[in-house]
Amino acid sequence: MSKVIYVEASPRKSRSHSSKLASIFIESYKTHHPEDVIQTIDLWSADLPEFNDEKLNAKYSIMHGEDPSDSEKSAWKEIESIFTTFNEADKYIFSVPMWNFGLPYVLKHYIDVITQPGLAWSFSPESGYSGLVKGKVLAIYATGGAYDVGSETEAFDLQKPAFEGWLSFIGLTDVERLVVAPTLAAPDDVTAMEESLALDAKKMAESF
Ligand SMILES: Cc1cc2nc3c(=O)[nH]c(=O)nc-3n(C[C@H](O)[C@H](O)[C@H](O)COP(=O)(O)O)c2cc1C
Repeated sequence: MSKVIYVEASPRKSRSHSSKLASIFIESYKTHHPEDVIQTIDLWSADLPEFNDEKLNAKYSIMHGEDPSDSEKSAWKEIESIFTTFNEADKYIFSVPMWNFGLPYVLKHYIDVITQPGLAWSFSPESGYSGLVKGKVLAIYATGGAYDVGSETEAFDLQKPAFEGWLSFIGLTDVERLVVAPTLAAPDDVTAMEESLALDAKKMAESF
């Protein structure tokens, strides 16, 4: 039995192109892997804690090998618990809308909370940085415009490089992708594109 975590970063539910494709993938995945457990983390109702001065002090104490104070320890416990939930999966699905060429702030917030020394990554002078998270990833991107590789708009795409840079930093290098784009095209074109992507998603779910 594998555990799958689905991190949902669009607030638009059934109107979200990335969430819709994730649902199609997950339904197909369940058919092909009936014994697996799937947990959804909806970042819009996750009530993430502020990653504030107290949490940063805890982070820097740990990074510098110091003994954190009692208040830093309790701030860190909250972070550890959110990270532990994330880290329990064998496979990850992320729905990732593009907002202002990058990531929605809730997803960035989640990344800032869970990307911690000794949890998501480690450092040693001999081997440098190492990611500590293991698993397979499906990243489902949705963008209003199109940012195809080799196109004039590619350089504006700060969503996929930022997201995949982060995945790689924490150790998640086995990544499959589905890209819904452009979602702001003519409705008939979007419908045709989504029908084709739905077939791809169902197929990918068989062997994910
Ligand atoms: C706040 C906001 C900012 C956006 N910024 C961009 C952008 O910079 N480039 C773009 O191509 N689309 C942009 N869009 C359009 C979304 O990427 C598009 O609607 C996409 O389908 C969102 O994913 P979703 O359907 O899963 O919610 C933006 C949408 C919102 C709500």
